[in-house]
Amino acid sequence: MALLYSLLLFSLLHLTTLQPTSGNTFSSLFSSPTATINSPATAGEWRLLSDSIGIVAMHMQLLPGNRLLTFDRTDFGLSNLSFPNCPFFFLDCTAHSLLYDISKNTISPLPLLSDPWCSSAALLPNGSLLQTGGFNTGDRSVRLFSLYSLSWIEHPYSLAVRRWYASNQLLPDGTVIVVGGRRQFNFEFFPPDQQYQLFDFPFLQETSDPDSENNLYPFLHLLPDGSLFIFANTRSIVFNPLGRSTTRSLPPLPDGVPRNYPSSGSSVLLPLRPEAPSRAEVLICGGAPRGAFQSALRNATYLPATRTCARIVPTDSNPQWSMEEMPLPRVMGDMVILPTGEILIINGAAAGTAGWELAQEPVLHPVLYRPDRPAGYRFEVMNPSTIPRMYHSSAILDSYGRVLIGGSNPHVGYVFQNVTYPTDLSLEAYLPPYLDATFEIMRPRRVVVGPPAEVGYGDVALVRFAVDGGLQEGMAVEVVAIAPAFATHSVGMNQRMVVMTVLRLVQLSFRGYMAEVLAPPSPEVAPPGFYMWFVLHGGVPSQAVWVRIRQSGAFSNF
Ligand SMILES: *[C@@H]1O[C@H](CO)[C@@H](O)[C@H](O)[C@H]1NC(C)=O
Ligand SMILES: *[C@@H]1O[C@H](CO)[C@@H](O)[C@H](O)[C@H]1NC(C)=O
Ligand SMILES: *[C@@H]1O[C@H](CO)[C@@H](O)[C@H](O)[C@H]1NC(C)=O
Ligand SMILES: *[C@@H]1O[C@H](CO)[C@@H](O)[C@H](O)[C@H]1NC(C)=O
Repeated sequence: MALLYSLLLFSLLHLTTLQPTSGNTFSSLFSSPTATINSPATAGEWRLLSDSIGIVAMHMQLLPGNRLLTFDRTDFGLSNLSFPNCPFFFLDCTAHSLLYDISKNTISPLPLLSDPWCSSAALLPNGSLLQTGGFNTGDRSVRLFSLYSLSWIEHPYSLAVRRWYASNQLLPDGTVIVVGGRRQFNFEFFPPDQQYQLFDFPFLQETSDPDSENNLYPFLHLLPDGSLFIFANTRSIVFNPLGRSTTRSLPPLPDGVPRNYPSSGSSVLLPLRPEAPSRAEVLICGGAPRGAFQSALRNATYLPATRTCARIVPTDSNPQWSMEEMPLPRVMGDMVILPTGEILIINGAAAGTAGWELAQEPVLHPVLYRPDRPAGYRFEVMNPSTIPRMYHSSAILDSYGRVLIGGSNPHVGYVFQNVTYPTDLSLEAYLPPYLDATFEIMRPRRVVVGPPAEVGYGDVALVRFAVDGGLQEGMAVEVVAIAPAFATHSVGMNQRMVVMTVLRLVQLSFRGYMAEVLAPPSPEVAPPGFYMWFVLHGGVPSQAVWVRIRQSGAFSNF
C-alpha cells in the first residue's frame, strides 16, 4: 500500500514539478535541483467546524496555544451564546467574545464590557493581545487579553483620542503604533511615551474622500529597515515611526480605485526572504470604485467591485506599481498568507461596498495567488463555499495550515430571517490544496523547536521533524515563521511571513531529521513575539509550532 502510494505520489510530482523555489535542498544528503509541488491535486476543501459559535466572528486573532479569540460588538443585543453562570455585571447574560479551541473544537464565552466594534489589535511580544478602540463605551479603551489568565483586562479612556476603524502595527522595539480611525488624522503609541501623546498625521486628512472616506483601516506594513509602508485610499508613503516623519511618497495607484474602508480591498506584505534581506514587496487586491458607497447608499445601485491587484516594492529606489487582474472581482476580501508563501484571497462580494446593506453578489470562490510565478500565471480559482461572507466576516491562518473563516453580518443587529444575507454565526475551515491526503507521506510531522521554543535574532535554531515517506530527492526543505494576523474588515494586521535559511540538514534516524535554521536577523524583519513555524518539504507544510522570538533592548523585561 505504502509503495503504491509513493508511486502514485511520484507520478504526481513528476507531472506537477513546475518551478524551482529559493528554498534549500538537503544538499548534504542529495544533490539535485530544488523543486516543489505547486500545482495542487485539488482546489481545496471546505469543512463546517460549527454551525453556530453564537456570535459574529468579525474580529479574529489566533493566540499562541492554538486558541482563536473572536468578538463582535457589545451593543448588538442578545447574542446566541449564553454564560453558563451569568456574571453579576451583565444585564443580558449573553457573551460577545469567546475563545475557540482549535484542537478540541470547543467554545468558552468571555466577559467583555466595553464595545470593541471596528477596533484594532496587535499581539505583544509577551503574547498578550493589545486591543484598542471601538465604539461608544469602547472607543478610547485599551484592552489586554492575557495568554496566562485567558481573560480580558479593560482600561477605559486610555487612548489619547477615540479610535474607530484604526490600524495597529507592532514595531521592532515591541511598542505598537495605532494609526487613524474615523475623523482622526493622527497616531499614537502603546505604551504611550508620555501620557496621551498624540501626533498629527496630515496624510490621513489628504486621503479622506469627503463623502465616503475610503481611507479607514489604513494598511500598515513594517519594512525590513524599520520604516512603515502606509497605504490609504490610493496613496502610500514610507514613514519613519521613530522620527514620526514621512521619508517619501510613492506614486498613487495608476487605476485610481480606492482600497480602504468602505471601498475595502485587502493587503499583505509578501514573504520576506533571506537571500534579499532588505527587500520587501506589498500586494493589494480588490476594492470598490470611487462613488460606490454613495451609489449603494443613495440609489441602491451596487457598482461592480474591482478585479485589480497592485504590487509594489517600496524598498526599491524608484518604486512603481504593477497591476494585475484577478479572475473574479472582489470587495471586502481577506488576504491570508499561507505557509507555502502563496496568498489566499477569500470572502467578500462582487458589487457594492462595506457598510450596512451595501453589498450584493457574494464571491464564494477563494482565489490562490502565487507571487513567484510570472505575471499572467499567478491566479487560480479554488473550490467555493456555500456561505456568503460579506460585511463583518474575517479569515485567518491556523496552526494546522487551515484558513478559519467566520462572520458576515450586514445588519445593525442579529437578523436571522427574511433577509437575503442573514447574520451568520458559523465557523468554517478552508483546507488549501496542500492539506490534501495525497501529500501525507511527504508531510513533515512531529516538529519540535528547542526546548525552549524560543530564539534570539540570528540564533541557530534546531528544528526536529519526521517524514513518513522520508525526504524525497530534489524536494526542498524550508522553514518559515508566520506572525498571526488580527483580522477584521478585510485587514490582517501584523500578518507577516519570514522565510529562514536552512543551514544544514541532518538525518537523525530512519525517518527523523534535524534542520539547523538561522532565526530572523533583526526585529525590523521579525518584530519580537510569537510566530508559527512551519516546516515544508517539497512545498507540503507541517503543522506549526509556536516559537517565541526574544526581544532585545528597551522593553525586554516582559
Ligand atoms: C439564534 O437564536 C435565535 C433566538 O433563539 C434563533 O431564532 C436563531 O435561529 C439562532 N441563530 C442561529 C444561527 O443559531
Ligand atoms: C504583557 O505586556 C504588556 C505591555 O507591557 C503588559 O501590560 C502586560 O501586563 C504583560 N502581560 C503579562 C501577562 O505579563
Ligand atoms: C443616483 O441616481 C441619480 C439618477 O440616476 C443620479 O443623478 C445620481 O448621481 C445618483 N447618485 C449617486 C450617489 O450615485
Ligand atoms: C418573515 O416574513 C414572513 C412572511 O412575510 C412573516 O410571516 C414573518 O413574520 C417574518 N418573520 C420575521 C422574523 O420578521
